[in-house]
Amino acid sequence: MYILGISCYYHDAAAGLLKDGEIVAAAQEERFTRKKHDDSFPTNAIKFCLTHAGITSRQLDYVGFYDKPLVKFDRILETFISVAPRGIRFFTVAMPIWLRQKLWVKDLIKKELEYDGEIIFAEHHQSHAASAFFASPFEDAAILTIDGVGEWTTTSYGYGSGNKITLTHEIKFPHSLGLLYSAFTQYLGFKVNSGEYKVMGLAPYGKPIYYDLIMENMIDLKDDGSFKLNMDYFAYTYAQQMINDKFVELFGHPPREPESKIEPYHFDIAMSIQRVTEEVMLRMANYVFEETGLKNLCLAGGVALNSVANGRIIRETPFEEVFIQPAAGDAGGGG
Ligand SMILES: [Fe+2]
Repeated sequence: MYILGISCYYHDAAAGLLKDGEIVAAAQEERFTRKKHDDSFPTNAIKFCLTHAGITSRQLDYVGFYDKPLVKFDRILETFISVAPRGIRFFTVAMPIWLRQKLWVKDLIKKELEYDGEIIFAEHHQSHAASAFFASPFEDAAILTIDGVGEWTTTSYGYGSGNKITLTHEIKFPHSLGLLYSAFTQYLGFKVNSGEYKVMGLAPYGKPIYYDLIMENMIDLKDDGSFKLNMDYFAYTYAQQMINDKFVELFGHPPREPESKIEPYHFDIAMSIQRVTEEVMLRMANYVFEETGLKNLCLAGGVALNSVANGRIIRETPFEEVFIQPAAGDAGGGG
């Protein structure tokens, strides 16, 4: 049985092919188009997978898509209504793309692939969880997925056993550890959904002197790792940017201009948000350990690319083994 997985139309388009439950090929579209984070339909990646297996699209038994576009659309509409009229410009930019392309994923897949079989739409965090657990060497494991946002979910916890995944807890948009980290990425003059690794890389040059300021003002973090963000500081529900004036006022420094000199202040901000992120992830991981009683942990979602935080989870939580999906971002959700 052949199953093709696809992720696209947000960032990091990719495809992966399973034969009788085993991965036979997987690839990210950007590797073929040389366009970083290419989000277009992964024609080249799919072709690579099918050619590698020596089959055509007509031999596929199922095609799986990495999220549920209609539920995502619902989130965008509901968010717009809740912040209206503030988000009207953002909304008018996003809508044509949805109406032209994203709502019609099923038809686009059928047309692009010349495929007439069944198409399955998994929830975004189920895709992340599956990408980690099914690729791991574990029979049983706790699962933690953390990213910017899928449909509504931004974080999910649960466990996997055999060929089943059960996600028991979730945190929903707009409360998102990934989007919090991306907000600081933008503040530090780097590209959102791209330059987050630079923030992590700057962190060890600084001191976490803004840790308390962030914890006291921007995030209400519970002992179990669940949290709510104070949305007074963020613009991503109503604008095409992450942060607002109140965010800037809190720190008393303007956002860093892209490509400008990196000052000690920027190192300190990077270290502060890095430490906050680590604290949240440690609390989440400890909670999932207590809840599941399992000794193995699987991690996925874009925030699971934060290798410094992952290192602390390995060293500082009771989990004996940790598996991190190497394509923890959205490429891994489809591929
Ligand atoms: Fe994701």
